[in-house]
Amino acid sequence: MADIKKEIEKRRTFAIISHPDAGKTTLTEKLLLYGGAINLAGSVKGKKTAKHAVSDWMEIEKQRGISVTSSVLQFKYNGYCINILDTPGHQDFSEDTYRTLMAADSAVMVIDASKGVEAQTIKLFKVCLLRSIPIITFINKMDRDAKSPFELLEDIENVLGISTYPMNWPIGSGKEFKGVYDRKSGSVLTFTANNGQREVESRSIPLSSEELKSSIGDDLFSRLSEDIELLDVAGDDFNSELVRGGRLTPVFFGSALTNFGVEPFLEEFLSLTTPPLPRETLTGEASPYSDGFSAFVFKIQANMNKAHRDRIAFMRICSGRFEKNMEVYHVQGDRKLRLSQPQQIMAQEREVIYEAYAGDIIGVFDPGIFSIGDTICMANDKFCFKGIPTFAPEHFALVLQKDTMKRKQFVKGVNQIAQEGTIQIFREPESGMEEVIVGVVGTLQFEVLEYRLKNEYNVEIVMNPLPYQYIRWIGNDDIDIKALDLASDTKRIEDLKGRPLLLFTSEWSISWALEHNEGLILEEFSS
Ligand code: G4P
Repeated sequence: MADIKKEIEKRRTFAIISHPDAGKTTLTEKLLLYGGAINLAGSVKGKKTAKHAVSDWMEIEKQRGISVTSSVLQFKYNGYCINILDTPGHQDFSEDTYRTLMAADSAVMVIDASKGVEAQTIKLFKVCLLRSIPIITFINKMDRDAKSPFELLEDIENVLGISTYPMNWPIGSGKEFKGVYDRKSGSVLTFTANNGQREVESRSIPLSSEELKSSIGDDLFSRLSEDIELLDVAGDDFNSELVRGGRLTPVFFGSALTNFGVEPFLEEFLSLTTPPLPRETLTGEASPYSDGFSAFVFKIQANMNKAHRDRIAFMRICSGRFEKNMEVYHVQGDRKLRLSQPQQIMAQEREVIYEAYAGDIIGVFDPGIFSIGDTICMANDKFCFKGIPTFAPEHFALVLQKDTMKRKQFVKGVNQIAQEGTIQIFREPESGMEEVIVGVVGTLQFEVLEYRLKNEYNVEIVMNPLPYQYIRWIGNDDIDIKALDLASDTKRIEDLKGRPLLLFTSEWSISWALEHNEGLILEEFSS
């Protein structure tokens, strides 16, 4: 037991969020370098050389240069065992991001110093807020001309509504970038500009040293002294309680590409964040240190690799220790099973694992039994984690297969993709599966559906966009859906479990339905 506790205390599991191009991949790559998980800078990705992040799996991602799916990377550093969860960069995949964040204990927010808070940062940040997890900010690309650091902090505070505490402070930016002042140690980490192309050498010089003045110049030195005074007098105080509750974000300035400020960031990050914390269950909390193994499924992905046509369920371990071949209990399926081929997956390379601990993510082969949010625990200690809500889709299309002879593949394909949570499928009451209504949170998911059905299931489809924008589940138990008095543009449908739903084109028709049907309960989420 003492060993398990020690192992769990080493764990840090976090997600990196950013607007596309802010430098998430570059920062991830540098972090992996420190852990020795990869040997060469640039091996994670170089868009220009058409190499792609090890975390990019699907063809569609490669073609479009976007990261659609999320992956998990693990490395060891200074006695810590670090799990990085990659989140999709594209805005249409915020639902996937939300699920990934359910598996994370904290988040790193990467911001481009020349742009400040961008649209996608706002969206992803809101998702983080839902869980009140610690958010640590890395303001990247200081080697390029940047906005004033005060303006950047104000941007975070005003747009995102979270207090900030700069852990370090930049001296100039772009060609004038000379380094950062570390507020804790009172020394300056120097930076020598080299057009952002190579890793820079840096040295730590005390603020009081004469050498510093001559190396950064009188102007920058006096501006730095003024800034430090202002921060000390007018800035927020550091408060680790607020950091843990996600209400104050420690901010670091640096440059991922030149590997400047990344290691100090990593070290501070590790001390600012906690090992895995207890998780909420339907009946209380599960402590990570409790004896029995438990986990929940936060992601399912089929056909990640054409060479292995399979489906993997990703689980976040929440308590205890996992051992290969151990017998566990799947709560939603109400049956015991053996997790026989657990894997840790980094791009196409899969490594079989023999043990894992609370905080870790494992991928197991899924013969089609798991759904997102499912609980796995020990048969002698059964409980259920709180579920992961699904986002209400906002775009709908009627999807039918071109070649009716391929009905079986079509049904299999749409069902599997729906189980992964990429799309939601519905149908009209009493209709078959020849055509389905597909609902998605972002329209790119339609393209993914079309692409995957063609490439993985050999089925071509026709997609007719539908004008609906709102979906509501009917919360009343006994209701005759046909008897409802609805506006002419409201559609009655059902989900795969046969639960009745309504599709609306406007909020006006939702109000109409509520006004004309006394006692009608309309719900935004399916439970
Ligand atoms: P993302 O995953 O958030 O989308 O961003 P990514 O790391 O791919 O970085 C986007 C671009 O910004 C890349 O350039 C990358 O090299 C550059 N970049 C990242 N960090 C820094 C930094 O600290 N300083 C500077 N100057 N640039 C940075 P690219 O030209 O789009 O691609 P590539 O050919 O360099 O891969």
